[in-house]
Amino acid sequence: RYVVLTSKHHEGYTNWGSPVSWNWNSMDVGPHRDLVGELGQALRERNIRYGLYHSLLEWFNPLYLDDKKNGFKTQNFVFLKTMPELYDLVLRYKPDLIWSDGDWEAPDTYWNSTSFLAWLYNDSPVKDTVVVNDRWCNNCSCHHGGYYNCADKYKPGTLPQHKWEMCTSIDRRSWGYRSNMQLNELMDESSIISELVQTVSFGGNYLLNVGPTKEGVIVPVFQERLLSLGKWLGVNGEAIYASKPWRVQMENITNSVWYTSKGSTVYAIFITWPEEKVLKLSSPIPSSSTQVTMLGFSEMLKWEKAPDKGLLIPLPFLPPSVLPVQCCWTLKLEGVE
Ligand SMILES: *[C@@H]1O[C@H](CO)[C@@H](O)[C@H](O)[C@H]1NC(C)=O
Ligand SMILES: *[C@@H]1O[C@H](CO)[C@@H](O)[C@H](O)[C@H]1NC(C)=O
Ligand SMILES: *[C@@H]1O[C@H](CO)[C@@H](O)[C@H](O)[C@H]1NC(C)=O
Repeated sequence: RYVVLTSKHHEGYTNWGSPVSWNWNSMDVGPHRDLVGELGQALRERNIRYGLYHSLLEWFNPLYLDDKKNGFKTQNFVFLKTMPELYDLVLRYKPDLIWSDGDWEAPDTYWNSTSFLAWLYNDSPVKDTVVVNDRWCNNCSCHHGGYYNCADKYKPGTLPQHKWEMCTSIDRRSWGYRSNMQLNELMDESSIISELVQTVSFGGNYLLNVGPTKEGVIVPVFQERLLSLGKWLGVNGEAIYASKPWRVQMENITNSVWYTSKGSTVYAIFITWPEEKVLKLSSPIPSSSTQVTMLGFSEMLKWEKAPDKGLLIPLPFLPPSVLPVQCCWTLKLEGVE
């Protein structure tokens, strides 16, 4: 439901015509196009929210390297580059999300991040809608911010108390495109979907990265993964979008069942199809009015009380059209506690 574009990564090249990035931006060199603007317009026409990734630091910028040499006591780079560009991005493109990065070398007093965030939330044109992450200073991540990313590919072991997002990459070895990537280095569709399910069960959002080639192409192997995920969501999205964590997040290490909820409805998403074709759910407490269905399958499923606790659900034979990918099926439970 949202897309995040890298407006500028650590090397400093801006994907829009930044007036303070002379000859190192996408209008002056490369495509000669406003990529940040064009993608934003395309997404808005489809009602998809638009986030902008932005790196505070720049690996090779002499102004930054000077400030760093001065122990971050000078702020020339921040005042001449970082801040003007952040304000420019907000005023021009009105992003729904600012995904800040490159924060870790310096304190918030160097980055001036509190001053920027105060403006963003009090006075900017997106003050009532904007969301930010947690990478705004060397000790901010996982402590301060809008929602938390914590580390890249962060996986909490228990339900976090603060809204969070897992960011990860289809190419396990890179966030950028690598022409020498190997198939076995990529996440397959099952691992992507099961990671999404686990993230959402823990109350997180899932942000999945693909690196475009230098020509701006998303290579077919990435397209295929994204389309599979979309197909799965087409059937199972009801258990994902706008869901809330349930009282229990996960049970059964062997079969791995993950829970989400919406109002009084509980969704149990199982990662592998049990060999004995009967799924046991231990955590939900059934009642006489309990009803079980499977998303994508029109008939009601039979169930019985398990001898100890929970439900036993004989699984139906599914025609191939109900199995968009070989992973992760959703049982919708009504009338359980
Ligand atoms: C940096 O922060 C200070 C104090 O919060 C503020 O007065 C100043 O305008 C800020 N400068 C920039 C370039 O954001
Ligand atoms: C970072 O934040 C944590 C938690 O707020 C605090 O305990 C720690 O002292 C901080 N470290 C630095 C270097 O500021
Ligand atoms: C896990 O699920 C499988 C299949 O439904 C079942 O046979 C097994 O007993 C379950 N294990 C536990 C600990 O509930």
